[in-house]
Amino acid sequence: MSEGDRAHPRAALDAASVRDAYRRWAGIYDVVFGGVSAPGRRRAVAAVNRLSQTAGRRVLEVGVGTGLALPDYKPELEVVGIDLSRDMLLKAKKRVAEEKLSAVHGLMEMDAESMAFADDSFDIAVAMYTASVVPDAKKLFAEMSRVVRPGGQLLFVNHFAADDGFRWWLERTTSPLARILGWHPDFKLSDIFTPETQIERMEACPPIALFTLVEVRNEG
Ligand SMILES: C[S@@+](CC[C@H](N)C(=O)[O-])C[C@H]1O[C@@H](n2cnc3c(N)ncnc32)[C@H](O)[C@@H]1O
Repeated sequence: MSEGDRAHPRAALDAASVRDAYRRWAGIYDVVFGGVSAPGRRRAVAAVNRLSQTAGRRVLEVGVGTGLALPDYKPELEVVGIDLSRDMLLKAKKRVAEEKLSAVHGLMEMDAESMAFADDSFDIAVAMYTASVVPDAKKLFAEMSRVVRPGGQLLFVNHFAADDGFRWWLERTTSPLARILGWHPDFKLSDIFTPETQIERMEACPPIALFTLVEVRNEG
């Protein structure tokens, strides 16, 4: 543990604290976070729609939440969404029914760190604002790699911690609040990827490049 870690110990997130946090967030999530996170979500789904032309149409959305991204998928895709929070999923299911979203083939309560899907079940998996929320992002990455066929695509859009400056200070200072917030404010690229990860493309997303879209070729 470094001096910095001792000064701001990272609060552990577990499945129970994620469920608790998102039970509280579910009713107000779209109003509080829908707007600021919309550009990154739109870019991620646009990338999925583009990549599906070559990668294939079977798409897994991990941590689908209230389903804010679901209306933007091309109708010919076969999208399955999973989430740990029943309360968030209920909102997503209502959205699918009300908007008659034909691309959505299933919404399931499931832990992204231990999925019930067979190997190679999908061509693309996307996690929007979810990697910094799951208790163990490296397990999330391993599971997404397992359920996507080799050569398929893994996409992430997330806030990644700054290296220095005011944002770094703010992220370090708020990191002990992870269990209340429901995410790790000081989440870093290295919390999910290794130096060997084949990152194909990174794109800064508004507002003020706060979020980054990362495309990875699945090595299986
Ligand atoms: C910040 S929200 C993002 C929701 C949605 N992707 C969006 O763009 O608005 C994070 C979501 O990840 C879900 N989540 C956290 N840990 C999870 C896990 N281990 N398995 C599945 N879903 C998880 C939470 O319940 C929550 O709905």
